[in-house]
Amino acid sequence: MTLDVARLRAETPGCAHVLHLNAAGSSLPSRRTLDATLDHLRLEAEIGGYEAADRERETLDGFYPAVARLIGAEAGEIAFIENATRAWDMAFYSLDFQPEDRILTCVSEYSSNYISYLQVAKKTGAEIVVVPDDRHGQIDLGALERAIDKRTKLVSISHVPTQGGLVQPAEAVGKIVNDAGVLYLLDACQSVGQLPVDVNKVGCDFLSVTGRKYLRGPRGTGFLYAKARTTSHIEPVFLDNHAARWTDDDAYTVVDDAKRFENWERYFAGVIGLKVATDQANELGMEAIWARLRTLADGLRARLAPLRGITVTDLGQVQGAIVTFAVAGADHTALKLALRAQAINVSVSTQLSSRLDLRGRGLRDVLRASVHVYNTEEELDRFVTALDAYTSRRMS
Ligand SMILES: Cc1ncc(COP(=O)(O)O)c(C=O)c1O
Repeated sequence: MTLDVARLRAETPGCAHVLHLNAAGSSLPSRRTLDATLDHLRLEAEIGGYEAADRERETLDGFYPAVARLIGAEAGEIAFIENATRAWDMAFYSLDFQPEDRILTCVSEYSSNYISYLQVAKKTGAEIVVVPDDRHGQIDLGALERAIDKRTKLVSISHVPTQGGLVQPAEAVGKIVNDAGVLYLLDACQSVGQLPVDVNKVGCDFLSVTGRKYLRGPRGTGFLYAKARTTSHIEPVFLDNHAARWTDDDAYTVVDDAKRFENWERYFAGVIGLKVATDQANELGMEAIWARLRTLADGLRARLAPLRGITVTDLGQVQGAIVTFAVAGADHTALKLALRAQAINVSVSTQLSSRLDLRGRGLRDVLRASVHVYNTEEELDRFVTALDAYTSRRMS
């Protein structure tokens, strides 16, 4: 199935205002998502927040099966959490690390995750092992297999890094990790909504996602998937009266399903917005979305590669919707702001997001142009022309 791009653009209010190549930061939501979010905020203001939640209970509850359908999970395996980092944290910090434990990760790992490894290593004595990349710049599967030993408690990687087009071979990693009987945490912040992700094929025990990026949901939304079969014994690091019941003066019982990882208080309008955005991804179909994003991103890489002074920096055998590149001698942030003055949105990924990867490649930072379904080939031409004009002005 191919997507009706003209219709998708007409249904995306932001397309009338900006050439948005920052889906990996925060993408443009559809009118349907925007309206559903605003309608709920309005209802809260008109009849009261608790009363609005009661009235919209069915839609709010519909969040769980919508997300479950998208990733091949059960509704009871999904927790609404306000962003990908906290979703990831709820899984990671709930594991009881001991001094002899080892945490295996990858070179392109996201900074917040790595900071958490460092903190846990500092507090518990657990060891961090970074599995090297193969010649394609993705995790070396042979090295991963060799690195897993009796002490390995967790394999934790980012599916798609913040700083490039790389798509890690998450399913092949899952096979190795599952065969070894080790826990597998997948940061799918940039991948869910971008490409088809089936948790059963990936074989992960936990998966964390944000709403605002490739799912096109509102900011301040996200979710955690926790596989029932392998994680139901894990008690969350934080509990409240939604995640657990106070059953006696000196006793509590943790709820059975993944809601034990949630907060009671949350952004209800955001839950509805993310549900609607997820419904739309399900309706369009992840295969069709992925095909479109790859066509656009490959087309952008092909346009950038021949330009003087520009080096495309994406790694991996499979490359997705995040296109990164370096402009020789340019201040990437100044270039981003110059483009923004022309209503063209891109972003800059720095070593603060992924130190091991960018530093290892001698890159201080990279420009990031990340496409979504509403982008067009004509927009890519316009972007490349604006970029070329900027670099030519600087070089002349
Ligand atoms: C790979 C990856 N993981 C995690 C995050 C953090 O997501 P959030 O800001 O929703 O917590 C990001 C954000 O850019 C990311 O790119």
